[in-house]
Amino acid sequence: MKVLFNGRLMERSECAVDIEDRGYQFGDGVYEVIRIYNGSLYTLDEHIARFFKSAAEIGIVLPFSEAELKGELKGLIKANQVDDGGLYLQATRGTAPRKHQYKPGLTPQVTAYTFPIKKPVNEQENGVSVITEDDLRWLRCDIKSLNLLYNVMIKQKAHEASSFEAILIRDGFVTEGTSSNVYAVKQNVIYTHPASNLILNGITRRTLLELFRKNGWQHEEKAITKDELMNADEVFISSTTAEVIPVTVIDGQNIGTGAPGPLTKEVQKALQDNILSETAKVL
Ligand code: PDD
Repeated sequence: MKVLFNGRLMERSECAVDIEDRGYQFGDGVYEVIRIYNGSLYTLDEHIARFFKSAAEIGIVLPFSEAELKGELKGLIKANQVDDGGLYLQATRGTAPRKHQYKPGLTPQVTAYTFPIKKPVNEQENGVSVITEDDLRWLRCDIKSLNLLYNVMIKQKAHEASSFEAILIRDGFVTEGTSSNVYAVKQNVIYTHPASNLILNGITRRTLLELFRKNGWQHEEKAITKDELMNADEVFISSTTAEVIPVTVIDGQNIGTGAPGPLTKEVQKALQDNILSETAKVL
């Protein structure tokens, strides 16, 4: 299995990161998770643009162009002959003697590897239970930063409660999941939190908003209260790895009928059609 290490393809076992890498010590870096379908990187342009934007937001200047990086990632999936799976990409600020402050101009450490993904078919078909938790994260959730401590703590709590995800609530309003965006349907209108500093503007979220428009499904980018969430007709979550998963139970209470809703199923189908058309094998 090959990995990309600062632009070079090498065996994973040959890849060594310094003990004073700032990503390792401070979480000082950014990342992306990209889905591979039919041997091609789905919504690659959007992921790479967000990667550069996240890096720029924290003052990391990547020493290559978006086009160069895309070429390297395509080389990686070719080298590993991945037809279906995931790609993880991260950049840290680089290596330096440990101090909170840094000297500008460190060489970023950029790594990428591919990994298998089991499509969550059962969850997509039958829906999942989730819990709600206070959103105690910082106020720059729009940056896809390596600092995921609160997300990790709360996802673990959900897992230990046999729940698939935790939906986060800030000041009474639903923001997003620990690793997903959240949507609620009420009287055929789909609500999701606006793209602000309080959520990560998911690439799947952006694709879905486009599909809502194309299909004429009424939608509003508007924060809803926890009460509105609990009383929604349908709830679903989205992410690169989850795609679209219906939420049928929240904090032990059924949502709507307690089964995946009709609009959620249409959204799922629209996303699958989009994936197929965007990643269809070129013969
Ligand atoms: N997580 N919100 C948060 C906090 C996330 O971590 C993610 C993705 C999303 C959905 O974004 P996208 O549609 O671009 O995947 C929303 C990735 C998959 C992860 O950390 O594994």
